[in-house]
Amino acid sequence: MTDAHEALRELEERARACTACRLAETRTTVVFGDGSTDARVMFVGEGPGRNEDLQGVPFVGAAGQLLNRLLEEVDLRREDVYIANVVKCRPPGNRDPRPDEIEACKGYLAEQIRLIDPEVVSTLGNFATKLLLKQQMGITRLRGHAYPWWNRTVVPTFHPAAALRGGESVMSQMREDFLLIEGVLSSTTKMEEQEPEQLGLFG
Ligand code: URA
Repeated sequence: MTDAHEALRELEERARACTACRLAETRTTVVFGDGSTDARVMFVGEGPGRNEDLQGVPFVGAAGQLLNRLLEEVDLRREDVYIANVVKCRPPGNRDPRPDEIEACKGYLAEQIRLIDPEVVSTLGNFATKLLLKQQMGITRLRGHAYPWWNRTVVPTFHPAAALRGGESVMSQMREDFLLIEGVLSSTTKMEEQEPEQLGLFG
């Protein structure tokens, strides 16, 4: 196991025992994250819903099915990406996470991003987008663009639950954003994945 994988495992263990906010009192399971720890793209949702709280895995409900479909359309599989949330424990009744809960939990997300080291972070909806981009503007205005962010690229898009409610118009804008993610990934093929002759070192 690499140091990063081991550190991620230890971080998950810490999160599983976390009692830093009131959500610890009502959660069934801590939903830490899921997917490849070598992922080039990481998605950040809002917080676990009922199914996620029961299963301990992010985006397993209807919104997750929709996310899987969008991933497939750009030739990505769940196993290729990493998925986490702003808060790791379900807010009761699926209410919005509160500012003090986000504050208490954000260190876990920061560490996940640092250890997984993705090139692209796609923020799903207002909570993740506002947390990372520190912007008060809403997702409708911010989406459709790629933002440089601490040597990575943030691609904000709607939360998949918004597509479940908003139908084809939201869905087609999300498709555009997923194509943007695909574009960023193909333009930033990791240096170590390139053959030396591709780097132009030999003429
Ligand atoms: N919505 C989220 O924001 N995250 C999940 O894991 C599931 C639904």
